[in-house]
Amino acid sequence: MRSNVNYSKKVLAHFSKPHNLGMIKDPSGVGEVGNLACGDVMKLYIKVEKGVIIDVKFETYGCAAAIATSSVITDMAKGKKVEETLLLNEKSVTTELDGLPPIKIHCSLLSVDALGEAIYDYMKKNKLPIPKNLELRHARLVKLGMT
Ligand code: FES
Repeated sequence: MRSNVNYSKKVLAHFSKPHNLGMIKDPSGVGEVGNLACGDVMKLYIKVEKGVIIDVKFETYGCAAAIATSSVITDMAKGKKVEETLLLNEKSVTTELDGLPPIKIHCSLLSVDALGEAIYDYMKKNKLPIPKNLELRHARLVKLGMT
């Protein structure tokens, strides 16, 4: 059967040559999330210095959209203040990739949630005040068994 999924050039470029692939040995925070519907999993590592994400890497077992969104969100987060990266969402990620097919929009959530979880982990370890919406996102993921 022929696939009806049409990806943008940017999605295909990030999928075929993902940026920031791998792990960070001594991370400031780690986020790991799974998509219950498809079983895909993403782990994202951040290194933070003076409130800025100076390095970010990911490992993903997932579809082309999951890999492309993981790759692009690491590019978008690197060099930004931690609080700034909390504003990244599915819309900003998919816009950066020139869109995703509607049936693949949910895949972009994996990268957004993994980044949120890595930040949550970093804030918790450093006893920093956790923003209410991040606390709620974390609680939702725990409740759903996604983290
Ligand atoms: Fe699982 Fe895309 S189908 S994240």
